Amino acid sequence: MLFTKIRLGAIKTIIDLHTHILPQIDDGSDGVDTSLKILQTMAQHNVDVVCATPHFYRERMNVETFLARRAAAWQKLQPAMESFSISILLGAEVAYYSGISEEKELHSLCVEGTNTLLLEMPYSDWNSFQIDEVMSLAWDSGFDVVLVHPERLTVGSNKRWLDRLYSLPMQVNAGALQHWRTRKSALEILENTAKPLLGSDCHNMKSRAPNLWEGRKVVERKLGKQFLLDMDENAQMMLLSHFVSV
Ligand SMILES: [Fe+2]
Repeated sequence: MLFTKIRLGAIKTIIDLHTHILPQIDDGSDGVDTSLKILQTMAQHNVDVVCATPHFYRERMNVETFLARRAAAWQKLQPAMESFSISILLGAEVAYYSGISEEKELHSLCVEGTNTLLLEMPYSDWNSFQIDEVMSLAWDSGFDVVLVHPERLTVGSNKRWLDRLYSLPMQVNAGALQHWRTRKSALEILENTAKPLLGSDCHNMKSRAPNLWEGRKVVERKLGKQFLLDMDENAQMMLLSHFVSV
């Protein structure tokens, strides 16, 4: 059914590209009960597809260990998912590290069935080596690199790198659009990136609750209905290869 919706394109498919819904794997959901509450809230707001993207920090573990832990977390949640119409796709939020382009198992961290790699740039000052390596992942290695929540990272001198990075898809957090302090820069990024995308980056039901629909309202109000539809289509295209392969 979902594949049909994506093929038709004109029918709305709501995708949350960035979440921490898997239980007890990172600083996201603290257990299956929380995961289910998050997913129930998403279902009430007509979310169709959720990418489960736990943090991956190379300095803490290798890819193999991460994948084993992610599979264990998914096993805890999967039996309860039968009552949901939401599709879950496993992925990762990969924190950039020097040498990432040499990582042989990097493709395993993409959203399953796709080349879509959610990449979190460092919170410290970026340099030209890092920017070159990220661009090389996209242009030389064929990854569909999505920079996650750049609005949280482009403080101070990092802003000057944005012009080079705007050719990449960028995923803004819905929460950044809700707050007046961050709304302007979040909207600016959505307008400038080649492929604007939205995610909730939800972690729990309190301080980082699911809120994709709140962000969508702001996009529609500030940038227009067509912009929102184009953004939905961008998200569908990032995941299309998964749905055509199943
Ligand atoms: Fe995240």
